[in-house]
Amino acid sequence: MKTGKQSGTRGLYAGTVLSNNQIRSCFWKIILAMDSPGSQAFATTNPGQFAEFDLSTVSIPPSDTIPEHLRDASARQILLRRPFSFSDVSISYLSEGVCTKIEVIYCVLGPATVRMTTLKKNDQVSILGPLGNGFWYPKDMKNALLVSGGIGAPPILHLAGFLKQHYPDICVTAFAGAKNVDKIPFHVRIGNKTGIVIEDFERLAIPAFLSTDDGSGGRKGFVTDSLRQWIRANRPLSGQTVLYACGPEAMLAECAKIAEEEGILCQISMERMMACGIGLCQSCAVQIAPIEAEQPRYKLCCKEGPVFDSRTVVFTNGRR
Ligand SMILES: Cc1cc2nc3c(=O)[nH]c(=O)nc-3n(C[C@H](O)[C@H](O)[C@H](O)COP(=O)(O)OP(=O)(O)OC[C@H]3O[C@@H](n4cnc5c(N)ncnc54)[C@H](O)[C@@H]3O)c2cc1C
Ligand code: FES
Repeated sequence: MKTGKQSGTRGLYAGTVLSNNQIRSCFWKIILAMDSPGSQAFATTNPGQFAEFDLSTVSIPPSDTIPEHLRDASARQILLRRPFSFSDVSISYLSEGVCTKIEVIYCVLGPATVRMTTLKKNDQVSILGPLGNGFWYPKDMKNALLVSGGIGAPPILHLAGFLKQHYPDICVTAFAGAKNVDKIPFHVRIGNKTGIVIEDFERLAIPAFLSTDDGSGGRKGFVTDSLRQWIRANRPLSGQTVLYACGPEAMLAECAKIAEEEGILCQISMERMMACGIGLCQSCAVQIAPIEAEQPRYKLCCKEGPVFDSRTVVFTNGRR
């Protein structure tokens, strides 16, 4: 397999599967060890960056194990690589060099992700990356508010671990939302007093608030209601607080609105259908607010994103 030319740069690398297990309902977690040049390149991955996986040659599982609503779609040929963010990237320094492990949480919803469930220990996957910009960290930041909706969780979890490791003085609070309890892509357990505990944040000693639209887990309502309530109760200083969000666009638009009302900086990780992932096909345009009376402007989500300052984005529902 062709591998990247230089350490620390975007390239085509091989990942060897270490484990691939179902977390709950449609959510799985795969951990891969990158080859030697890939380990160098991915060692400096910034949360919010992503990679394109080639899953075209991975086998289809037996049809009776595929959820019925996905059986027809699963038979489709896979022509394009698929983009995935990381929920963690860990680095070990061994006598033979650096070894980087990447962790991806994925939701099974179509032909590529159905196939992905059949990957087993020692299988190899061709991975193009690291791609995109990732989140950034203003130097005056003292509070980070992390908001995830549904499968927007992985890069937020990666960010949580990264902040704890590299910015231990920053006070981090997490807000996770999902349609219902089955759509929470985290490891959870029932706590005695607190209801559902999100173990992934508990492990990092980060307070986390869960909301579900139907109230089947955590607080009933949108995650952004929980966020707004927390901000009003705790009044974090605007110049020292950054809101980081990843999830459905309507949730990102609401985060942008809350941030604007509260004078807080807000970085959002946008999702678009991506064909090439490297700025060639123009399939992933995000509309950017025009300057004065200029024509609409666009940025490529794969190259100039996926993370944007929320003040610059024109959301598809027309809100800023
Ligand atoms: C930057 C980025 C990071 C991502 N990170 C993750 C991740 O960490 N975990 C994860 O589970 N998924 C992630 N995704 C989405 C993931 O790429 C798709 O779920 C995957 O490609 C689906 O492939 P499939 O063949 O199984 O299903 P497909 O048949 O390709 O898609 C199934 C359904 O999902 C919709 N869909 C697929 N891709 C997208 C997209 N990019 N935006 C909006 N709708 C889409 C399709 O319209 C279709 O309705 C990410 C996407 C992007 C752009
Ligand atoms: S995915 Fe091809 S330009 Fe962004």
